[in-house]
Amino acid sequence: SQTKPQILVIFGASGDLTKRKLIPALYELFRQKLLPKEFAVLGVSRTDLDDDAFREKMKEFLPKEDDKKTAVSEFLQMLYYQPLATEDAYDYPVLRDRLTTIAKQNNIAENYIFYLSTPPKLYEIIPANLASVDLNKTEDGFRRLIVEKPFGTDLESAKQLNKNLLNYFNEDQIYRIDHYLGKETVQNMLVTRFANGIFEPIWNHNFIHHVEVTSAESLGVEERGGYYDSSGAMRDMVQNHLMQVVGMVAMEPPVIVEADAIRNEVLKVFQSLRPIKEEDVQNHVIRGQYIESHIKGDLVKGYRQEKGVDPESRTETFMAMKFFIDNWRWSGVPFYIRTGKKLPTRVTEVVIHFKKTPHHLFGTNAGYEHSNNQLVIRIQPDEGILLKFGMKVPGAGFNVQTVNMDFHYDDLRNVHLPSAYERLLLDCMQGDATLYSRGDAVVKAWEYVQPILNAWKNNPEIPVYGYPAGTWGPDVADDLVEDGTWRYPCKNLSDDGNYC
Ligand code: BG6
Repeated sequence: SQTKPQILVIFGASGDLTKRKLIPALYELFRQKLLPKEFAVLGVSRTDLDDDAFREKMKEFLPKEDDKKTAVSEFLQMLYYQPLATEDAYDYPVLRDRLTTIAKQNNIAENYIFYLSTPPKLYEIIPANLASVDLNKTEDGFRRLIVEKPFGTDLESAKQLNKNLLNYFNEDQIYRIDHYLGKETVQNMLVTRFANGIFEPIWNHNFIHHVEVTSAESLGVEERGGYYDSSGAMRDMVQNHLMQVVGMVAMEPPVIVEADAIRNEVLKVFQSLRPIKEEDVQNHVIRGQYIESHIKGDLVKGYRQEKGVDPESRTETFMAMKFFIDNWRWSGVPFYIRTGKKLPTRVTEVVIHFKKTPHHLFGTNAGYEHSNNQLVIRIQPDEGILLKFGMKVPGAGFNVQTVNMDFHYDDLRNVHLPSAYERLLLDCMQGDATLYSRGDAVVKAWEYVQPILNAWKNNPEIPVYGYPAGTWGPDVADDLVEDGTWRYPCKNLSDDGNYC
């Protein structure tokens, strides 16, 4: 659909996200001619810069190749900068007037998107300040607000945040960004499921043994120890990104590909999650923290030795959980989520583990272990889909071995995999909220995880298992999986890093 002339206002323009993700994504959209001709970005933050200084700073994060030089300088002309005391309502008439001037200069209608890439405490203040100068509404054109996670730090603060945003903007103006939904392969889950006749008939408790969502990172907390120590894997990855992935795997077919139709189905999945009671947490959720270890001969710091982290911290850098979706389709099928920092590799994948054959015709040795079919949806890296099934080993007898049917996006020539931010920014510019989280689903996901967070807080006897950096987390996480295993994509990873 058409992208109308508009101005994107980025609050927190001197921050990391702006230069690392937003500006490069906007540049890529520009290069592909996906931005409207009449378009401008207004960077806003407290730092005192002028337009030229801002452009110079952003240039460092854009490609340097010769052939793209003209595109880069043309793009930079679309960037403007306004220093602003963001917390101070008295400063907002300056912002409003600046926007009107830029709009007039560039012949842009007064369509504005406000992107909050700021510390979360400003999520309360900026919307109110925008409203104080009527920047939250317009008679013709649009006003939209993009909010970055975290959407609250617990159930109460999430509800409060929603309430506060809704005081100044309507739900259909609010775009809560979850960059996992912007990933091509997460969206492909809907196409795999609903554009093919062969998967949906077996996508249920009759054929599926268990579902696994693994999101492993080889990095630790790097420079973000301070933030991470008050967050942990549950708040940082599970409550938002991985729950949204579960929504995509488990949802019923939407009636139509439209924001509310799809988001209603995600909400229904969250509504069907079987609550984990505080007293059951220990049996369903394992938490861990990486400890000092040697990786390939190098000494690697433990989490508690990281900068900004409390030396007695009990924050989880790993968690694995088992849960159920109590509805018709998923009755009795265990779902597992596993995520952590400083694991052996970086990989995010969904694995559908199918039930074994009812009868083991080729004997338990020769066929049984291979009759466990898996469909692996690789979200990253090496995006693609892999189906594992048993095949006869050529020669005498009936020996079975597992083989792969394997599709890699890389095999498609000349295909550009857009970054999550490219996709999501363009969607918001076009008014499409399909891949943004809706307020009610965010609250529902918090409702689900809150008893787990409470149990951890209130019961110091629930262990935080140490795991050596560079391993797959505490061994007890293996015991969580009933009558089956996690997939270990790296266990037989060859030295050249091939995915298996
Ligand atoms: C962010 C988390 O939301 O997602 C980070 O705050 C995490 O801790 C990151 O590393 C993972 O994103 P991706 O796209 O690299 O999988």
